[in-house]
Amino acid sequence: MLSVFYHPYTNMRYVFVFNRFFLCAPLLFSVFCGQAQNSKVANIDSKVEGLLSKMTLDEKIGQLNQVVGDIATGTDVKRDNLIEGVRDGSIGSILSHFNFENKIKLQRIAVKESRLGIPLLFGADVIHGYKTIFPIPLAQAASWDMDLIERIERIASTEAAADGQNWTFAPMVDISRDPRWGRVMEGAGEDTYLGSRIAVARVKGIQGSDLSDPTTLAACVKHYAGYGFSEAGRDYNITDISEQRLRETVLPPFQAAAKAGAATFMNGFNALNGTPASMNKHLITDILRGEWGWKGMIVSDWNSFGETITHGAAEDETDASAKCLSAGSDMDMVGGVYQKGLKKALDAGRIQQAQIDEAVRRVLRLKYALGLFDDPFRYLNERRRRETLEQPDYRTAAREAAAASMVLLKNNNDVLPLQAGGKVKKIALIGPYLDRRATKDYLSFWTVCIGDVRAYDPGKIITPAQALKPALEAMGFEVTLTPVCPDVECGSEEDIIKTMQATRDADVAIIFVGERGDDCGESRSVSNIALPRNQEHLIKVAANTKKPVIMVLFNSRPMVFPVAKEKAEAILMAWQPGFETGNALADVLTGKVSPSGKLPMTMPLNMGQIPIYYNGYNTGRPRTAPGQMWTSGYLDAPNEPAWPFGFGLSYTTFSYSPIHLNKTSLQKGETLEATVLVTNKGNRAASEVVQCYVRDLTADVTRPLRELKGFEKIKLAPGEYRNVTFKLTAADLAYWNQDLQFKSDPGKFQLFIGGNSQDTQTAAFELK
Ligand code: BGC
Repeated sequence: MLSVFYHPYTNMRYVFVFNRFFLCAPLLFSVFCGQAQNSKVANIDSKVEGLLSKMTLDEKIGQLNQVVGDIATGTDVKRDNLIEGVRDGSIGSILSHFNFENKIKLQRIAVKESRLGIPLLFGADVIHGYKTIFPIPLAQAASWDMDLIERIERIASTEAAADGQNWTFAPMVDISRDPRWGRVMEGAGEDTYLGSRIAVARVKGIQGSDLSDPTTLAACVKHYAGYGFSEAGRDYNITDISEQRLRETVLPPFQAAAKAGAATFMNGFNALNGTPASMNKHLITDILRGEWGWKGMIVSDWNSFGETITHGAAEDETDASAKCLSAGSDMDMVGGVYQKGLKKALDAGRIQQAQIDEAVRRVLRLKYALGLFDDPFRYLNERRRRETLEQPDYRTAAREAAAASMVLLKNNNDVLPLQAGGKVKKIALIGPYLDRRATKDYLSFWTVCIGDVRAYDPGKIITPAQALKPALEAMGFEVTLTPVCPDVECGSEEDIIKTMQATRDADVAIIFVGERGDDCGESRSVSNIALPRNQEHLIKVAANTKKPVIMVLFNSRPMVFPVAKEKAEAILMAWQPGFETGNALADVLTGKVSPSGKLPMTMPLNMGQIPIYYNGYNTGRPRTAPGQMWTSGYLDAPNEPAWPFGFGLSYTTFSYSPIHLNKTSLQKGETLEATVLVTNKGNRAASEVVQCYVRDLTADVTRPLRELKGFEKIKLAPGEYRNVTFKLTAADLAYWNQDLQFKSDPGKFQLFIGGNSQDTQTAAFELK
């Protein structure tokens, strides 16, 4: 496909070949592409060297300086005069700048009025969509659908790139096991394998196959590293992670993203094992650039260079500059630390000119790779912007994604899906999150806070009431709407009476409860993950009428709701689903789509179980029966969660045959094939995520009870069955041993396959 773009500055026409098949049809052109890639890199390198040789020290430091644009997403920072800074070459990049015309103006100043004409890099947090808002990333992870996730990122990047952004601060690949931490909503959950697969899908979606394609953005993998283990779930807190746990659990998604070609990384805010991540040489220079051979550029988090001083790990800006640059960090996000300290650090002999040059090279390389030197306005084309933003098919994808993310936790007596022609004639829709008053709550911090600047029209968000009422009425149901307690504690007499009456008058009540969009995300940790604002009470009083109650939960994190868990007949976890909230809910509740989401994080039974995750360890004293003394457990609660990792019901049931192994003894160099026959036993077409776990029974160090090693999402028609095969080699069984070597060793293993991490078929094999 050929596309024509108009250059806003010169008004010249540019023709691009868009079809990626043309650019790199995998087999036929792989050799050609490899060579072309090498010569492209060499070409860029020589241009970078040419430019670098002309730059003054101030200009070099300018390229390492990123300043904030028209909105701030963090603490108060000094606001620079953008025009002056761009003109004098002291700004290399601007983040969170949403005014399109103004971006053109600033880019024009950069290329026409600054001494060397170096184009600006515009960065933005494109976390779950840009103009079209998709479900939050944790919800997307619940879909376990890599193609879908890649497609979402492609759309989000296409929109952002058409709006003048060239760099997104995504994906966030922090593994976390603590739902108190508000940022779990931005990641892929608790599991390293799932997280790694999603990291790759996101990088592919964001960057496409060619960074110089003007519909792609540079990805930024964050937050390197360990931020998801913030102690006590308190945002920005320190993290203490053993080297083994770091390598086994935290780093693999970063490594996978680096290998997938992610152009940039971002430092974490956390101090890891005592050293702030931004000045953590072990992480950046030794592992990321050294062991993994990654060549990209690493940016600080919001003033995280400056915060090394607050951590008490650097004296002042000079010390912080020396430490962060020496560790391998390149660009300073909004802190102005390099502006103040880098030259002084150089003069004091703390750093070498060559180190600054190397950081600048990485920034310039990125600008060249994005094609910004060829055409600084390639992301700033008004016509393309008009033709690209908010296309109807993006909404279709948003609806599909929201439905595919929803997790059905409970469905007694098959109360769902709602079916016409039965006993149910009248349905009551009740709750704080029912209608337009809650529109922001179907989004997240990342879209609520900056929504005004991105000019979200609340009318673009389809609420449950808006979509469900007509959908259910069209099926012949009578529907009543009872919005209660929108922004306040639930439980006033009025709310209770309204809820009870509406339920009593109906045959089924659907109650919409959850968190506010503004309750989740950065700086939104909580000490209590119970369903807030007394909303469980609504479920309780409604259920006390003896009518079936369906709870729809809008959430950004695992939560606890013991009363509702007991009393509700069905529970559907909808997350923060984005613009297509209502339509996706209508699809799922009416059975147009059978739920297929599976939990990417364990749902604890109570708060004291945190951190709780499926791949724990046996310990020397495993508990094998409830209440057993002298074993690892609690006096007042079981160890088991409310719902395990990987769990999610469907409107059909799937049966799993025993596992068939092609061999029970695996030699190095061989492949173990584990096959199960999965059958759709019900009368609805539905998708199932078939999951494969392994346990290494004896090793050099203690190994998790189960570790996810593979999964496949399959769709089966009623009565249809399919063989699903997982292939494992010795490399898949490797782990970090006591000497910190990554290797597998002979011994006995168990293999589990099933529809969640607990209910599985089991087989045994040996690695020789
Ligand atoms: C967050 C990052 C984000 C950056 C820029 C920081 O506060 O931690 O994830 O990319 O702000 O908005």
